[in-house]
Amino acid sequence: MNSSLNIMNNQNKKNKYYITTPIYYINERPHLGHAYSSVIADVLARYNKNLGKEVFFLTGTDEHGRKIIQAAEKTGLPPQEFADKYSAYFKEILPLLNIENSYFIRTTDKEIHWPKAIELWQKIKSAGDIYKGSYKGLYCVGHEAFLKPSELKNGICPDHQTKPEIIEEENYFFKLSRYQNILKSKIENDEIKILPTTRKNEILSFLNEGLEDISFSRPAKDLNWGIPVPGDATQTIYVWADALANYISGLKNDFDKFFPPDTQIIGKDILRFHAVIWPAILLSAKLPLPKTIFIHGYITINGQKMSKTIGNIIDPVEIINKYGIDPLRYYLLREIVPSQDGDFSYEKLKKRYDSDLVNGLSNTIHRILILAWQNKKMFNEREKISTAERQIIRKKYDQAILNFEFNEALKIIWELISHIDKKIEKEKLWELPQKNQKKFSEIIKNTLNDFYLIADLLKPFLPLTGEKILELIKLENKPEPIFKKL
Ligand code: MSP
Repeated sequence: MNSSLNIMNNQNKKNKYYITTPIYYINERPHLGHAYSSVIADVLARYNKNLGKEVFFLTGTDEHGRKIIQAAEKTGLPPQEFADKYSAYFKEILPLLNIENSYFIRTTDKEIHWPKAIELWQKIKSAGDIYKGSYKGLYCVGHEAFLKPSELKNGICPDHQTKPEIIEEENYFFKLSRYQNILKSKIENDEIKILPTTRKNEILSFLNEGLEDISFSRPAKDLNWGIPVPGDATQTIYVWADALANYISGLKNDFDKFFPPDTQIIGKDILRFHAVIWPAILLSAKLPLPKTIFIHGYITINGQKMSKTIGNIIDPVEIINKYGIDPLRYYLLREIVPSQDGDFSYEKLKKRYDSDLVNGLSNTIHRILILAWQNKKMFNEREKISTAERQIIRKKYDQAILNFEFNEALKIIWELISHIDKKIEKEKLWELPQKNQKKFSEIIKNTLNDFYLIADLLKPFLPLTGEKILELIKLENKPEPIFKKL
């Protein structure tokens, strides 16, 4: 087959970085949980850009399947109109969160997405991995997947609190079972690196239980909101087979340049789809595998997953309007341990805002910059100096990011802030312009260099704040505090 999905080699890709978020279901408006996946990906995209890499950062919306058609029916809108409306909510929120994605993929895009999803299907089929069979099972619309009876509690899906539909039908199967051993070894030896390790172990023990082939299409008479199976329009491609192809279609003409993903960010509920089905599809299509999959926990409210079903949704825009973009990003990245579930509350947000952003960062910088400003003449000439201490800080910070420990990376920055604050107190900096000009000027120069470092390290996390600090330390205008008590 003369296909565009051909990957040449992995050389020349050292300076490229391809990162993805899951594509979001549009059955609801974006909430803080969705924002979380995107913010994490944005930090990594910006961090790698700052390293000088060429970055492709993909996000988008998952718009087919039973779940979406049901949501559309509830609103009374025709499905495509509904999809356009809800997809737009997800697209519009990105600039509000200051997310710099390279492209926004939609699975209903017949020009960009469909041809690639179809091509992928054809590749798997030519590999002999698609066959027709009959299926009987329990379908959970919330998961968009069949569940095993053992996964239910009293006949109910414990995640969605709904009774699955009993489905018995003819459809196409994907020979997933064929890939069990090879997946196992590739995950074991970190060829596909699954982080955190607890998730790697979880998926390995899942693989050890044995893989069954999976249903990969639905009869079009029961579900036609999707992509028709090539060569058999009586069947619709399974929504996950359609959705996973976004990581290919979303690259558009840059597929060859960027594929495979360096990092895929996902929540813990979609681990199997990404660590088992997706790499099996790629193996079947003879395409290279993602390098790293990072699995984050849930944003919870009083310990419960934020979700439409539970009805405990927080709209990120509400927080942005009250506190601003960076305080929201700061909360998500500092308060929450990425590998675990983390609670959101307005009390905790206010506490973080007051203590870390206003008192910690803003006041420390402001006090010092005001003194520098008042004695500005002393600091006309400045040079950027990277001391051994600064290099150590940077190294620790890099390591934290490499481990997806964003909260730790931020802690390192705040340790430096508190160190500066203590030094200022100890030296009584405010008395020095009168008492010891030389010492004063030395401390300020040194501290301004620390501020450069702080701004630089902050930039992937809090881009606006990082830029603001760089602006302030030029001392062109009287310094204003970065954050004020609300
Ligand atoms: N459409 C599928 C993904 C297809 S990717 C080929 C999907 N969509 S989703 O909208 O339900 O979830 C998208 C992402 O948002 C997932 O990573 C999910 O874990 C994340 N979150 C949804 N609610 C969340 C929280 N309350 N907390 C953190 N993330 C959660 O699954």
